[in-house]
Amino acid sequence: MAAKAWGGRFSGESDAQVEMFTESISFDARLAPYDVQGSQAHATMLAEVGLISNEERDQICGALDEILGEIERGEMPFSASLEDIHMHIERALIDRLGDVGRKLHTGRSRNDQVATDMKLFVREAIDRIDGLLADVQRAFVERCEGDQDVILPGYTHLQRAMPVLAPHYWLAYCEKFQRDRERLADGRKRVNLSPLGAAALAGSSLPIDRHQTAELLGFSEPAANSLDVSSDRDYQIEFVQNLSLIAVHLSGLAEEWILWFSTEFGFLSLPESYTTGSSIMPQKRNPDVLELIRGKTARVIAAVPQMLVLLKGLPMAYNRDLQEDKIALFDAYDTIAACLELMPGMISGAALNRDAIAARLEEGFLDATALMEYLIKKGVPMRTGHETVGKLVAECENRGCTLSDLSLEQLQSACDLIDEDVRKVLGTKNAMAALVSYGSGGKEPVTEQIGRWRERLDS
Ligand code: ARG
Repeated sequence: MAAKAWGGRFSGESDAQVEMFTESISFDARLAPYDVQGSQAHATMLAEVGLISNEERDQICGALDEILGEIERGEMPFSASLEDIHMHIERALIDRLGDVGRKLHTGRSRNDQVATDMKLFVREAIDRIDGLLADVQRAFVERCEGDQDVILPGYTHLQRAMPVLAPHYWLAYCEKFQRDRERLADGRKRVNLSPLGAAALAGSSLPIDRHQTAELLGFSEPAANSLDVSSDRDYQIEFVQNLSLIAVHLSGLAEEWILWFSTEFGFLSLPESYTTGSSIMPQKRNPDVLELIRGKTARVIAAVPQMLVLLKGLPMAYNRDLQEDKIALFDAYDTIAACLELMPGMISGAALNRDAIAARLEEGFLDATALMEYLIKKGVPMRTGHETVGKLVAECENRGCTLSDLSLEQLQSACDLIDEDVRKVLGTKNAMAALVSYGSGGKEPVTEQIGRWRERLDS
């Protein structure tokens, strides 16, 4: 069994069951590249301030590169008795370099070390998720041109409400994902402060230079309070909160497309490769990928309360409870990354069923609001116009017809201000074309927004 790093204080051997219970190597091995990066910066700084020689620094940095290679090739055997990735790497270093290896942990503790590793990990994760979100946005924007002539019913309460151009839907998702990106970027500022050198909880009496390690690792500056560093996981909670909002956005999109893919809606065809069949019903083609994106939202959202509860009531500074942070965070991150990676292919591969959509576009009085606004333009008070059109809709329902089917006389009997020009707003296509306000679903505002998004994503 490998000797412990804290062997001096202990006389007996540790219990194998306890080792299995306390280990984290089974889930923190993926921190190896960040651990090596942090250790190399630390060694560089130790040499700079004279705590180790330049030769020792070079030996340490070189050996760390070799060790990382070994880990990445799967050649390092992991053992619960060495607890975590930090101890595995330090042990391998000492095995190689002896006393020189025993100097690396000067002026640092595993507490600031794990905090540094996790901040480097989360920083990179944020950048990756940001790129994946941009890919999803791009896939939507790419669809816009081809779908520019398709009108879709817009819904509230899942009841037909007003018509919009199809790209208006695509760009609505771009907006949501843009806010997700902005939230990630904002959280990144709080991630990007260096924990390294805060040591166990109180800093060090040695002349370490935390500004230098912060700079070497690309952090904006060192975090200012060692007690806070050792206990702070706020930035991780912010990150999983931001991930859970992405999950909610993806889940809403998945739900919408699952509905649109149903026979009842019939709006959307999904690429065959994103659907699966049934083991018994030969005709089936199920939107399993979308259902799983919706389903996996559960574990991403669950990571937020899991981490809040983990932190709740912890006294300062480091407590071993904090080791559990990685389980929730890694799972939420991996889940969102996997969902986002699938999306662009599905978004560009899906097709709107134009004929089926068009065939039912006059159902549901999508032009009723346009008719009301026509009356407002004629000087009718809004509430009166609302009531007038409401009555006309009721009449149409009785007759089993649309507003366009009514004769001018029938329309005029509801309001004598209506004349022949009403034909310009009746019908779903006209009602869509009538939408001109900034950010609305009509032709011009949507074209303007497509241009804005193209520019934004190009830069
Ligand atoms: N594996 C531990 C964690 O993830 C590293 C820090 C251990 N620190 C300690 N004082 N036991 O939190």
